[in-house]
Amino acid sequence: MKSYIIEGGKKLEGDVKVSGSKNASLPIIASCILNGNITKLYNVPNIRDTQITLKILRLLGCKIKKNSGKIEINSKNMTGKEIPEELMREMRSTVILAGAILGRFKEVTFSYPGGCDIGSRPIDLHLSSFKKLGIQIEEESGFIHCICDKIIGNDINLDFPSVGATENIILASVYAEGTTTITNAAMEPEIVDLANCLNKMGAKVEGAGTNEIKITGVKKLKPISYGIMPDRIEAGTLLCITAATGGNVKLLNVCSEHLVPVIHKLQEAGCNITISKNDIIIKAPRRLKPVEIKTMPYPGFPTDLQQVFGAMLTIAKGTSVIVENIFENRYKYMTELKRMGAKVTIEGKTAVIKGVKKLSCASVQSPDLRGGAALVLAGLTAKGKTKISHIEYILRGYEKLEEKLTKLGASIVLEEGE
Ligand code: EPZ
Repeated sequence: MKSYIIEGGKKLEGDVKVSGSKNASLPIIASCILNGNITKLYNVPNIRDTQITLKILRLLGCKIKKNSGKIEINSKNMTGKEIPEELMREMRSTVILAGAILGRFKEVTFSYPGGCDIGSRPIDLHLSSFKKLGIQIEEESGFIHCICDKIIGNDINLDFPSVGATENIILASVYAEGTTTITNAAMEPEIVDLANCLNKMGAKVEGAGTNEIKITGVKKLKPISYGIMPDRIEAGTLLCITAATGGNVKLLNVCSEHLVPVIHKLQEAGCNITISKNDIIIKAPRRLKPVEIKTMPYPGFPTDLQQVFGAMLTIAKGTSVIVENIFENRYKYMTELKRMGAKVTIEGKTAVIKGVKKLSCASVQSPDLRGGAALVLAGLTAKGKTKISHIEYILRGYEKLEEKLTKLGASIVLEEGE
């Protein structure tokens, strides 16, 4: 079990380059199944989640060449249609491969993705959408088998603007007969990145980024190269860490238009933020002010930044309120923060945070990916040595986090456990 050892109390200062987006890389890696050809991807973060997704593609017969952030995927000789159970369990977002395998092979078998640390994470919207596309689905002893002669375009209205379901419908519909329209579609930037990549291959995906997306089936897709968008959640995490440590940092390679609600809330909390084309400069105030946050589907405040923002607000001057509207169990990190002196009460979806002057160092455990990042922020603000265990969660979603933070003046060391 790996741990971070953090010596807190230092202001973060300097420049840091944001990596490519984890949540854009996963569906875009899946899309490489569709063209049965070579796709060269750039700016793919080298993290556990992308490593697992590439491992599954290799097991299904794709040829993968990796060279730091550059990845070449050749899906020409891919034959496998069954996602390995153990890898499905390890990372629930592998369900995104189902749509791409169905889109090309009209058949796929996968196991129910385990719930995870932030909620039950059902896939009912994925499955009901597949059925609307003419796909037969059989569920037996934890496995789901999907098959059809051909995928027929249809009109699909999502009960909830699910990011994964929207991506899966797009991937399954690229070669469909006719047109598929998704209403109440998710509008996240990662979906726009997926659509841009597919359209570069020759697909016809219109309206990505709005709540109505139209996919017109095509016959063939071509080999391309494509650069992954910057990771807006990593960028938001680094902004909050800078704000909490009283620092002054310039983020490089970031799309500020993906972070509008986050930037506004940081400004409300007293931060001075300057935006230029691909950079954001943040200067923290002496003491942060409290704010109210409600997580919402994009373009609302992102649920993936709820935890780091919550950790930052534990040392604001006053009382903050957070309402988590997307996932039902995304406050586990607060239990760990209380061990560091945070004053928080949680009632259902709402967390009330009474700011304290300083957190104190402690030994804590990372409960999940973004909760782990929240504990890193807390450790960097607390005087003394904080040990965060179970950081495997954090390594799933943040590329070279300790290297980036060390470059900004933090004292953080990765300790290999037994
Ligand atoms: C994506 O997860 C992201 N993951 C999540 O980021 C992110 O938190 C989430 O979108 C919301 O923005 C990836 O892109 C790999 P959803 P996804 O389907 O697609 C319910 C991170 O930390 N729902 O939009 O799984 C679901 O239970 C991760 O990087 C159904 O009810 O999210 C949840 O309450 C965490 N039925 C809500 O919708 C379904 O069939 C949002 O889920 C699907 C979802």
